[in-house]
Amino acid sequence: MRILIVFATTEGQTAKIAHYAFARLTADGHSVALLSAAEARDLDPASFDRVLLAGSVHAGRYQEALKDYMRAQRASLSRAETLFLSVSLSAAGSDPDDWKGLKDCVRRLTEETGVAPKRVEHVAGAFRFSDYGFFEYWAMRWIATQKDDTVEHGEDREYTDWTALAALLDDWAS
Ligand SMILES: Cc1cc2nc3c(=O)[nH]c(=O)nc-3n(C[C@H](O)[C@H](O)[C@H](O)COP(=O)(O)O)c2cc1C
Repeated sequence: MRILIVFATTEGQTAKIAHYAFARLTADGHSVALLSAAEARDLDPASFDRVLLAGSVHAGRYQEALKDYMRAQRASLSRAETLFLSVSLSAAGSDPDDWKGLKDCVRRLTEETGVAPKRVEHVAGAFRFSDYGFFEYWAMRWIATQKDDTVEHGEDREYTDWTALAALLDDWAS
């Protein structure tokens, strides 16, 4: 199959996930194109069999570049076999309020872009203290104390389950 991956990232974890998907799907014999949402802006996904979109949640929103791409290619994306990977820290836990929040994020994404991805999956992201600016560093330190007290002082922590992601990609592309 011809598969297009379009991603947006702020600190890099979604880029890592998109590159992993690229490697996995390529190894499975698919012809895969990987672009950031900004690079993909004018690329009509109509010539691809499947489209994987990925973005991460920051203060309840996905990246503007991803939304711009979805709006620009709304007609083709609405017809395409789309998988949306929503990357967040809420997905690393089991707090019902956090999961409700994630559903609201996806609902808002659809409202704002006019695109309802055919399949949505939530993927746990990471604390990347080494990539944060001053404000993010202290805000995320506070969140870490609330959500995971095993996170050491300013230490990066990845929650992405690569095995589960591989199974998900295999299932979607099969
Ligand atoms: C400033 C900031 C705000 C965030 N807001 C949320 C949020 O509202 N909900 C959530 O579940 N995760 C939130 N996160 C966690 C990110 O979604 C998570 O770190 C993800 O791995 C980021 O992916 P990226 O590196 O591709 O940008 C936030 C992270 C930062 C730095």
